[in-house]
Amino acid sequence: MNLPVRSDRPWWRDAVTYQIYIRSYADSNGDGKGDVEGIRSRLPYLKELGVDAIWITPWYPSPQNDHGYDVSNYMDIEPDYGTLADATRLINEAHALGIKFIVDIVPNHSSSDHEWFKAALAAKPGSPERDRYMFRDGKGENGELPPNNWEAVFGGPAWERVIEADGTPGQWYLHLFAVEQPDFNWENSEVRSHFEDVLKFWLDLGVDGFRIDVAHGMIKEAGLPDMEVAPDLLSEIKAPYWDQDGVHEIYRAWRKIFDSYPGHRMGVAEAWVPATSLPKYLREDELANSFNFLFLDSKWDADILKTNIKRSLKELEGTGAPSSWVFENHDVTRKVNRFDQGLRGGGVANPKDRWGDLEKFDITRGTRRARAGALLMLALPGGAYIYQGEELGLPEVTDIPHDRLTDPRWKMSGYTDPGRDGCRVPIPWTADEKGAHGFSASALVTKLSAWLPQPQNWGDFAADMQEKDANSTLALYRTALKIRRGEAGLGDGEIEWIEAGPTAIAFKRPGNFACYVNFGADLPLPAGAKVLVASGSLNGNSLPVDTAVWLRLK
Ligand code: NOJ
Repeated sequence: MNLPVRSDRPWWRDAVTYQIYIRSYADSNGDGKGDVEGIRSRLPYLKELGVDAIWITPWYPSPQNDHGYDVSNYMDIEPDYGTLADATRLINEAHALGIKFIVDIVPNHSSSDHEWFKAALAAKPGSPERDRYMFRDGKGENGELPPNNWEAVFGGPAWERVIEADGTPGQWYLHLFAVEQPDFNWENSEVRSHFEDVLKFWLDLGVDGFRIDVAHGMIKEAGLPDMEVAPDLLSEIKAPYWDQDGVHEIYRAWRKIFDSYPGHRMGVAEAWVPATSLPKYLREDELANSFNFLFLDSKWDADILKTNIKRSLKELEGTGAPSSWVFENHDVTRKVNRFDQGLRGGGVANPKDRWGDLEKFDITRGTRRARAGALLMLALPGGAYIYQGEELGLPEVTDIPHDRLTDPRWKMSGYTDPGRDGCRVPIPWTADEKGAHGFSASALVTKLSAWLPQPQNWGDFAADMQEKDANSTLALYRTALKIRRGEAGLGDGEIEWIEAGPTAIAFKRPGNFACYVNFGADLPLPAGAKVLVASGSLNGNSLPVDTAVWLRLK
């Protein structure tokens, strides 16, 4: 295997990107919510962790019905989070530390507070204002039935009826997510040109890329036909609102904009589409990266993981694009719980699939598996995404009191699914409880008064404590990322599989590097190999269950 030269290729082929859920990261002004200055105060931590890029979840003005994924102005910063001047300073300081900067763009829908939507409500059916969104007349004698049978991702019908200016019930608008998230009409040229302006606005401020929310959703099948069955995420059955060919035209136009700027500006797609469809988003005139959700969706099982890794690499072969490995984000249960309970990552609609059997949850075993998973992911060819707190081994918080839940999913599921708040609890920076374990600069903010309450044991995961402990999960991530940076054969490049039996995953990377992950009985390691890092203690020259190791082969 040849040793590649990483600096010769665009950064996004190899980057480890750290996702920051801004509301829960660090609160500089004592209002119990994270903010831009809070992130800035943590740049040294991120540098020390050794990530190549950061991605900030939506930080635009928003009524926060879906915590920023309901945007009311795409070219400003949410006042609770700071100002454009703060954002610019953060981008520049990250760059000064050699960290690339990705912002989140939400083009499928706006907030119902967006000026355009307010104008649409005030205007008449058939007006240019309504044409920027998906307004339709209802069915039934008096238009009292929704235009079709589509369901919102968060639950319930995907259509909401409006009251017209004359006070009578009128048209319906489409919202694939919350009622407060009306879908844009991407057949409308004003919508297209507005988003091109939005991209340029942030590119001019220096951002290196965009994480594209619901990247498979903007175009809907002509005629908005009824849906036969609600398809499972990643399934080959196509919903009339997902993965339509028209979205690719949008990305081709966006790619031209990215390429008109110096440096390697990029887009990464949040596209929950089947593995066979993903390569389309990664064609050379489209997007650079697309999250590998097939990987994220895999249970902690050697066969499932190996099959999904091989399959995703195979599907990407023709595109020339690298894979973007990811196990966690702000939408899925933390992997400590998932791996312990044998759960998938996506397609979750109830507490059992989300959390498993809470009585049987074993955090020690879950943590072991999560640590092994980290070494697996960081050794695979391509880039990788880490979600804040993943490096601290945070578990899912499953006991947030119902009256504190904020995810729109909770209400829209008819209060049956608690939703995603459990992976969004503010980060414990200090073992000391003050300021919600250091989440807030103000001592007036407590564990219980932070925007989401922290559980009793949150101090056990504190970053300041893990910094002092060579065996902590934070130390493991720091070590792995340091090795990865120095190891020319990691990141993008070749992989060669090693046959190590049905309960192990093993492969080589250039430079006599090997990764072994064991899911079964003690596994003898190759003789004479040097251990670079291991996710847990070895048993002499054997790898115990739920443990991974990076080796330099003889
Ligand atoms: C995907 C985002 O990751 C999620 O948090 C959000 O609720 C939906 N898109 C709607 O924007």
